[in-house]
Amino acid sequence: MKKSFLFITIIFTLIIMAACSNANNQGANKQQKVLTMGTSADFAPFESTDPSGKIIGFDVDLANYIAKQLGDKLEIKDMKFDGLVGALQTKRVDVVLAGMSATEKRKKNVDFSTPYNRSGEMFLTLKDSKIKTIDDLKGTAVGVQLGTIQEEGAKKLQEKINFDVKPLDNSTTLIQELLSKRIQVAYMDKSVATGYIQKQGLAGFDDPTSSSPGMAVAFPKGSKLVNDVNKVLKQMEQNGKMKELKDKWLKNQ
Ligand code: ARG
Repeated sequence: MKKSFLFITIIFTLIIMAACSNANNQGANKQQKVLTMGTSADFAPFESTDPSGKIIGFDVDLANYIAKQLGDKLEIKDMKFDGLVGALQTKRVDVVLAGMSATEKRKKNVDFSTPYNRSGEMFLTLKDSKIKTIDDLKGTAVGVQLGTIQEEGAKKLQEKINFDVKPLDNSTTLIQELLSKRIQVAYMDKSVATGYIQKQGLAGFDDPTSSSPGMAVAFPKGSKLVNDVNKVLKQMEQNGKMKELKDKWLKNQ
């Protein structure tokens, strides 16, 4: 009688221990499964919000593919472009995909993947504008997005040509300012500007002086994810997935 009671107790204990360790494991896995991406969804075709408020674009598809390969679930946090490097530094996000150019200056504060896309810069104007070359910028107000390489570039150009630089938080606001004539020029990424030219009937000309570095995924300094993401990017170049995404989102560039 006593023996069988002991036996049953041992079996029960084992079952409970097994159940507990299983639950613990699942808990740990669940925590690892979220890859948090920071972005600034004002930059179509890379990231923007559709009418239902969903964030869509090349970077979103790219991040989803990367997350899937890593076995993670993607979560997106939308913020001001100017706050993205800080969000990485304070580890509020694991990665940033925001059409962010891998500049030497940013490399002091964050790590980058290998570049996944290249673009140039463009000066956007209203269709009937007389501003057609860099020299025509003299005396105008040029809008740029705060914290971007375009802000930096415009400030450099300003040393040679006398114009006002107007930094704004959001690149959608730039277009509104242009349409309402509070600025005469918006200086921005060429792929993004091309979309506005087509959709809003604007005009524009290329910046011959710019040579921006490629766009890359950004990470907190020392992040272990850099290698894994680079592997996925390489695999995407080889298996045609990268081309598929570029054909889907960047075809008109
Ligand atoms: N490529 C430029 C930069 O890195 C502009 C990026 C702006 N991105 C955005 N999601 N608004 O500075």
